[in-house]
Amino acid sequence: MPGTEFDVLRELVARRRDVRRFQTRPIGSDILDDIFHLVEGAPSVGNSQPWRWVQVDGSEARAKVKSSFQAANEAARKAVPEDRQGLYANLKLAGLDEAPLQLAVFCDTQTTQGSGLGRQTQPEALHYSVACAIMIFWLAAKARGLGVGWVSILNPSDISDCLDVPASWDLIAYLCVGYPEDEHYDPELERYGWQDRVWSRHHVIKR
Ligand SMILES: Cc1cc2nc3c(=O)[nH]c(=O)nc-3n(C[C@H](O)[C@H](O)[C@H](O)COP(=O)(O)O)c2cc1C
Repeated sequence: MPGTEFDVLRELVARRRDVRRFQTRPIGSDILDDIFHLVEGAPSVGNSQPWRWVQVDGSEARAKVKSSFQAANEAARKAVPEDRQGLYANLKLAGLDEAPLQLAVFCDTQTTQGSGLGRQTQPEALHYSVACAIMIFWLAAKARGLGVGWVSILNPSDISDCLDVPASWDLIAYLCVGYPEDEHYDPELERYGWQDRVWSRHHVIKR
């Protein structure tokens, strides 16, 4: 029996993971077209659609991204409490070597689309709009059998420099995308003992 809309969404959200272990098989361009079409339906402040997706295919650019990740990751490892550094070092925090598709997602802070509506008091609403689009991308990818891994352990200026994007574009995310090696209902960081998810109504505060 087909489930309700909420049941379908619940299952999709439950199976969406941050993926770092990818198969190397390529993704069909028709699948990507479908996903990117869906993404344009994301909400954005003033209908500004400020997301800019740079597909990173070149080996030179990918090598620069990887070296930015390695430097940032080593610094991050040293910054965690000493008793957790060993655990941190054992985590796989990016699938940069395997992911067949890699996307640097930027916010065009100078876009005129939307004529500034909604961003006078909160200019960062433009950046939040890109995060909304990324969330749609993540769920749409999952619905087409793909995994997405968000890599934030990078120096944003390294990425902007090597991709030669306009200075007015802010890096929001670097995404690794591909078919996952395996599927899980629980986050990788839970399975490796770093951080459990807390299912709490205490994140909702009433005033
Ligand atoms: C803004 C953002 C940045 C993230 N950056 C990283 C990252 O650099 N490396 C990583 O392994 N996971 C990263 N993640 C994924 C989280 O670790 C992951 O969402 C969390 O552990 C819960 O797992 P799940 O997404 O599989 O439910 C990021 C997630 C978000 C939303």
